[in-house]
Amino acid sequence: MYASMKLRKDHQIGAIDNRIYGSFIEHLGRAVYGGIYEPDHPTADDMGFRQDVLDLVRQLQVPIVRYPGGNFVSGYCWEDGTGPKDQRPRRLELAWKVIETNQVGIDEFQEWAKRAGSQVMMAVNLGTRGPEEARNLVEYCNFPGGTLYSDKRRANGFEEPFNIKTWCLGNEMDGPWQIGAKTAEEYGRIAAETAKVMKWVDPTIELVACGSSNLGMPTFGSWETTVLEHTYDYVDYISLHNYYGNPENDIRLFLSKSLDFDSFIKSVAAICDAVKAKKHSDKTLYLSFDEWNVWYHSNEQDKAIEPWSVAPPQLEDVYNFEDALFVGCLLITLLKNADRVKMACLAQLVNVIAPIMTENGGAAWAQTIFYPFLHASAYGRGISLCPEVTCEGYSVGDKSFVPFVESAASWNPDDETLTIFAVNRSEDAVQQLAVSLEDFGPLTLIEHLTLQGHDLKAVNTAKSSPVVPKTDGETKMTNEGAEITLQPLSWNVIRFGRK
Ligand code: AHR
Repeated sequence: MYASMKLRKDHQIGAIDNRIYGSFIEHLGRAVYGGIYEPDHPTADDMGFRQDVLDLVRQLQVPIVRYPGGNFVSGYCWEDGTGPKDQRPRRLELAWKVIETNQVGIDEFQEWAKRAGSQVMMAVNLGTRGPEEARNLVEYCNFPGGTLYSDKRRANGFEEPFNIKTWCLGNEMDGPWQIGAKTAEEYGRIAAETAKVMKWVDPTIELVACGSSNLGMPTFGSWETTVLEHTYDYVDYISLHNYYGNPENDIRLFLSKSLDFDSFIKSVAAICDAVKAKKHSDKTLYLSFDEWNVWYHSNEQDKAIEPWSVAPPQLEDVYNFEDALFVGCLLITLLKNADRVKMACLAQLVNVIAPIMTENGGAAWAQTIFYPFLHASAYGRGISLCPEVTCEGYSVGDKSFVPFVESAASWNPDDETLTIFAVNRSEDAVQQLAVSLEDFGPLTLIEHLTLQGHDLKAVNTAKSSPVVPKTDGETKMTNEGAEITLQPLSWNVIRFGRK
């Protein structure tokens, strides 16, 4: 099949905020204990952080990591995770029915984030707690000294403030599963009051209000409207969360679900703008898609986990090749919405629905979804261009047209590199993509990376990793630009630079 793409340097969606390549570490399962932190592991550093995991995280170049939850945060006492470790309480953790030992808290996590080359995106508890504890936490983290909480931090060995710039006002507060769930009115009020005092302690911070827990929530839309009517003047972002799966075992349907991700983003942006207009505000609200991924493989095995153990193997989805293709489609969609989505977190980072897996005391390895994320984070920087694509498509489920070619392009003015990301959704047809690049001056092909040719259910494990990228893509330079061959069911990264 033939497809075409026109790219122009001045036809731009917007600047890519690097924080769209964020991720998430929750106190859940083995994300923290046995994931990033395992003092007895052969690779543990002076603070007990696994260096093998840190090496993989650094490869992903994750600019921001959300912490400590998630559902966990709605019952969390942040003070438990500070000060001498032998005095920290063991608590019943109600969100995930486990015992939390508090051997890692903000004292340790901010240090881990530094070692990973990331910033912390800190969430406050608006389930069981409120403005008082949130403002104390901002004081503990960001105030230089000479006050109760800033001096506690200094006494705990951290003379310099942590300077955490991005904060989430609770987590999924619309969800009945949430500890201290709220109506939109209840949440809107407490979020506004919490935002006010947090910014009074540190006016430089940015705040994220909770949007709906997912697109399927019955209150989706009205929740955002009500929450923003209360919080618009005090917050900078609203959150979106959504997880996907292929329980139908239908690849055409599965890969079409990134169109829902796209329309979710556009709907929330429209609601933000409607509230902006109603408030006669000059401020544009941006989106933080701070939980997204595939999550369904581990649902059954999680039902068998006995409650009240420490760091059991929860939400340990083992990702296959089709998940990598789908995650590629979602990353492309984030790039195509770079004008509104300024932050996004692949949920999560280690062991829990994660690109990185570990064995306690053993190996760490990259799952299939690690690679599209790695490529997008490494090369999808600079400006997101607006590709004009013509291609054939198919209909499936409630969608009358799903394009076979899902694509985005980024232009990095710093090093004058151009990158095209493309997924071919077709199971059997090669797409011959003719790209016009005349607007860019002389370019040369650097490489055409692919994930292709695997069984859809192929997975990577501690022992073998068949699903890894290769530089075996076929791209030819032409007079007009390039002729790119997209193999059936493939992830493609085509990189061009100056001659
Ligand atoms: O990421 C796993 C869980 O999914 C988070 O704790 C929660 O916010 C969401 O429902």
